[in-house]
Amino acid sequence: MSAAAYDVAALRAHFPALADGTAYFDGPGGSQTPTAVAEAVAGALVAGLSNRGGTTASERRADAVVVAARQAAADLVGGDPTGVVVGRSMTALTFDLARTLAAGWGPGDEVVVTRLDHDANVAPWTSAAAAVGATVRWADFDPATGELDPAAVTALLGPRTRLVAVTGASNLLGTRPDVTAITRAAHEVGALVHVDGVHLTAHHHVDLAAIGADLYSWSPYKVLGPHCGVLHGDPALLETLHPAKLEPSPDRVPERFEAGTLPYELLAGLSAAVDFLAGLADVVGASAAAATDPRRTRLERSLAAVETHEARLRDRVEQGATDLGVTVRSRARRRTPTLLLTFEDVPGVEAVDAYRFLAGLGVNAPASHFYAVHASRHLGLGDTGGLRVGISPYTDDDDVDRLLDGLGRLVTGPR
Ligand SMILES: Cc1ncc(COP(=O)(O)O)c(C=O)c1O
Repeated sequence: MSAAAYDVAALRAHFPALADGTAYFDGPGGSQTPTAVAEAVAGALVAGLSNRGGTTASERRADAVVVAARQAAADLVGGDPTGVVVGRSMTALTFDLARTLAAGWGPGDEVVVTRLDHDANVAPWTSAAAAVGATVRWADFDPATGELDPAAVTALLGPRTRLVAVTGASNLLGTRPDVTAITRAAHEVGALVHVDGVHLTAHHHVDLAAIGADLYSWSPYKVLGPHCGVLHGDPALLETLHPAKLEPSPDRVPERFEAGTLPYELLAGLSAAVDFLAGLADVVGASAAAATDPRRTRLERSLAAVETHEARLRDRVEQGATDLGVTVRSRARRRTPTLLLTFEDVPGVEAVDAYRFLAGLGVNAPASHFYAVHASRHLGLGDTGGLRVGISPYTDDDDVDRLLDGLGRLVTGPR
């Protein structure tokens, strides 16, 4: 596919939020929402909705929404719908999961976490380990390159390793570690692997079977969907786990892991987001996809188109920022289209100044550690972090022009 084939204007017409001219480079914090997703959320609420069941039409509608959302989530990442657990957020799901798994750990057992990860894939594991007296081992990435060498993780594995928690892609730097190599080595010592797929799922076609993760989580609100979280577990593994639950609530998998009533309307939005993504290649004219192709095939095609588009715009931002003397911290060979910029070579300018200056121009590119605090500190950026520029499927060249123009005025002009 040529880059010119990606009709971003046609795509942008589906996002009412873009109409006011704001350039959203804050997609890694949460993407904008297409009309189809908002309509699906509203539609589920007004259609007549009761608790899941099989007697009334409204009960059956709720049930159908749940079944459809599990299938949609499974199609998106190549998972098994019977292992799809829905929760309030990836963070909440991971805390629950860690507590449940740690019930089987004790002193002498070990968990491995990385300094590249968002704290949502660190704190749940370190606190669960602390509660049962298990040992935490930390894998470091190379701050000069942003790379997490699989060997940095695998060197920490041993017969007592119970779990490895690693990110599919860093939300701070964009680095995509070789997670497949890590899961393979972890499985050789009998350890489970939980992959934080929140940042990865938004930008790449994920194949859980290839990654080999036992547990994989992501957040639909970063992938054009609504605010909730999804955990994919190997159903056979989930069968062995017993989270705290209400006595009368279902004991089957995956319902056993879903405390309380599910957010049906958000699940309808989740399915709509996956359907929107599956049809995205058609919207942007990037392929002659047959509507009858399986959704997973259409998703693969769409995400390939998104990847090409996003990589081109990322390269533009990277080159433009470098030309302005801004430091690009994102340097790993395999990366998402997310760039961390810092300003040590620009006297008198801090990332937060750029954040505020750009905001005044209608360009959203926040400055923070974005909860990847360990990564930020390891980069020598403390708890300040840097300016994060995230490219999304709806980002266009005009957005990039305005970002670079704003950065140029900040760096060279009177402030
Ligand atoms: C890489 C990564 N992991 C985890 C999270 C937490 O996701 P949630 O907001 O669904 O808890 C985020 C959110 O920014 C993230 O970027």
